[in-house]
Amino acid sequence: MAEAFNDLDLPADKATRYATVAEEIASVLDGEPNVTARMATVASMLASSFDHYFWTGFYVVDPDKPRELVVGPYQGTLGCLRIAYGRGVCGAAAETGRTQLVPDVHAFPGHIACDGRSASEVVVPVFGPDGALIAVFDVDAVEPAAFDETDATWLETILGAAFGGSTIP
Ligand code: SME
Repeated sequence: MAEAFNDLDLPADKATRYATVAEEIASVLDGEPNVTARMATVASMLASSFDHYFWTGFYVVDPDKPRELVVGPYQGTLGCLRIAYGRGVCGAAAETGRTQLVPDVHAFPGHIACDGRSASEVVVPVFGPDGALIAVFDVDAVEPAAFDETDATWLETILGAAFGGSTIP
């Protein structure tokens, strides 16, 4: 991926790039209340800013089915439509409310292979302003161990600002 979403020359250093993209996302989302529009924008802008992102998107909490996630806005190849809490990496993030950093998806118990090329991933729980889980944000890479604490921490920051009302430091 990594076509620039605008003319901005993104910094090479990963943390600096996240900081720049975080500000850009906040600026584009400013004043937009619709959650689907916000999710689509976050997925698009992040996917087009990082070369190691292969599949990028949301699994949202289904209001009609308890303890089940349903696919939301995403960028990438065809994703599975539904994931139960506790199943795979996304289900683990929903169940525990904690970020899952997985260097080798094949070693993760119950990993769901929507696209067999995925080798590593990070999944971040997404909370609304009242602190309730509204979705998980899943990023997959074709390289093993493509994500580290920098990705996890910045994604938590960006998603907290976009959906929980927290501020970007
Ligand atoms: N990898 C995820 C499934 C979703 S897709 O890869 C798009 C998981 O095991 O939770």
